Amino acid sequence: MTGCIRGISGSTVWVEGLKGLRLFERVRVGNAELTGEVVRLEGERAVVQVYEETTGLGINEPVKGTGSPLTVMLGPGILGAVFDGLQRPLEQLRAEMGPFISGTKEVSALDYKRSWEFHPLKSEGDELREGDAIGYVEEGAFRHLILAGASGIISWIREGSFSLGEPLARLGSGEDVYGLQEWPVRSPRPYRRKLSPSVPMITGQRVIDFFFPIPRGGTAVIPGGFGTGKTILEQTIAKFADVDIVVYVGCGERGNEMAELLEEFQTIKDPWRERRLIDRTVLVVNTSNMPVSAREASIYTAVTIGEYYRDMGYNVLLLADSVSRWAEALREISSSMEEMPGEEGYPTYLASRIFGFYERAGIVETLNGDVGSLTMILSVSPPGGDFTEPVTQASLRTAGVFLMLDTSLAHRRHFPAINWSQSYSLYQKELKKNFSEKVSSEWEDLHDRCRGLLQSEEELREIAEIVGKEGLRDEDRLLMEAVERIRTEFLCQNAYTEDAFSSPEKTLKIIKEIIRFFDDASEQIRKGILYEDILKA
Ligand SMILES: Nc1ncnc2c1ncn2[C@@H]1O[C@H](COP(=O)(O)OP(=O)(O)OP(=O)(O)O)[C@@H](O)[C@H]1O
Ligand SMILES: [Mg+2]
Repeated sequence: MTGCIRGISGSTVWVEGLKGLRLFERVRVGNAELTGEVVRLEGERAVVQVYEETTGLGINEPVKGTGSPLTVMLGPGILGAVFDGLQRPLEQLRAEMGPFISGTKEVSALDYKRSWEFHPLKSEGDELREGDAIGYVEEGAFRHLILAGASGIISWIREGSFSLGEPLARLGSGEDVYGLQEWPVRSPRPYRRKLSPSVPMITGQRVIDFFFPIPRGGTAVIPGGFGTGKTILEQTIAKFADVDIVVYVGCGERGNEMAELLEEFQTIKDPWRERRLIDRTVLVVNTSNMPVSAREASIYTAVTIGEYYRDMGYNVLLLADSVSRWAEALREISSSMEEMPGEEGYPTYLASRIFGFYERAGIVETLNGDVGSLTMILSVSPPGGDFTEPVTQASLRTAGVFLMLDTSLAHRRHFPAINWSQSYSLYQKELKKNFSEKVSSEWEDLHDRCRGLLQSEEELREIAEIVGKEGLRDEDRLLMEAVERIRTEFLCQNAYTEDAFSSPEKTLKIIKEIIRFFDDASEQIRKGILYEDILKA
């Protein structure tokens, strides 16, 4: 069935004459067969969002339905790949089309020619339920479970080498089970139930792990103005976080940053395993030089891949830089569809879309009975550093951890520039307990002491500004000195040195030393020793 283009505005195309289309169905647009998605239906008229460059597209060109929604291909071979927003492997695109990717090319997300070794976990006659693992393949260091998409009795199952186009098992109903499945990007993958996040995901950033811990399955947002260190923080966490698999989305940001990241990941070693980082990483790239509309789809492509590995019982971390660029793409699409604009021109459904996306994070009991988690850390770039704008506000309402980057800290080159009085973690209490049990019973106490010192110093600073530091009492000058040490030796972490990653043990050791210095010196002051003499000692 073929329809016809009646109007074009940017990446939005009006189509007529296509019967039986469904909302969010994938369509092929124009002679070039560009990938598009039906975003509105009115009888036989449809509004289609095209995810590729529409330059050259003409009126009256044909549009074809595909009968299925926009999907992600899920199967072995995803790890280590670099995809664009529509899950096309960039390497292959570049090899076939050169550096200027026009997007007309249909390229398979995964390699059908590659052969994999299948190890069955079920046998003939076994009953299979949806979500059960029928077997696995070794994907690098990981056991990649092949999860059944249907239920039934196994009438036949393979063992040994296969390629992605071949069936691995057959059910009594005649349905085949493949090592590859397609999943609609906009539908969350199912699980048995959500669990409550209670285990910390170690980021290796002292200020986060100590003050604003992120649990496995939690959501953290990092809003920050221009140049406050969002990208460096996201990338540093991507390298060091204590998780199995990392999905990194470069969403509307600079292309060269992604190129550098890729190069680094290919060379540096995974700090938790004897492998290269890239072997446990998936990169989804839709940088500022690529079509804006695919950017809207890119974060869904990434989250679906994340859920897929979660369903195998892995701890997955999704990082996106930045959600604001995704929201801007949404705004552009909405305005070209002539929808009624809401606050600052964003569509009225912005907050519900953001909520729906963040909701896909979580720690879950999978259909298979395992526990898997998908954690999200997302940067937000509010224009002009104004945190009252809609994307920051909607993120703030839904995320459990809020890491606010502070322009004045960044100016002083205090990195990560996380403002410790305005950021928060809703999980602080629970995770603090967990660190106390796993790392040291002193964790909680040191945390509270450190917080107390920072607070007292804030009040003192106002006085010091009036009377000058020299006008303060000795114990107050000592407190200011201790907090200065907390700031420079504990809260600051240079991403370009060995200190980029701090284990919880190291974090504890540093803060313990500073607090001990403060306690010892306080004791000496009480004994009448002068502050100057203590510092000299
Ligand atoms: N942890 C860090 N250690 C050392 N330097 C840092 C750190 N974080 C940020 N910087 C410095 O700050 C600069 C800007 O950081 P980054 O590019 O991450 O900011 P950004 O918020 O992503 O900026 P933009 O708004 O332009 O995307 C870096 O080039 C680097 O010099
Ligand atoms: Mg950046």
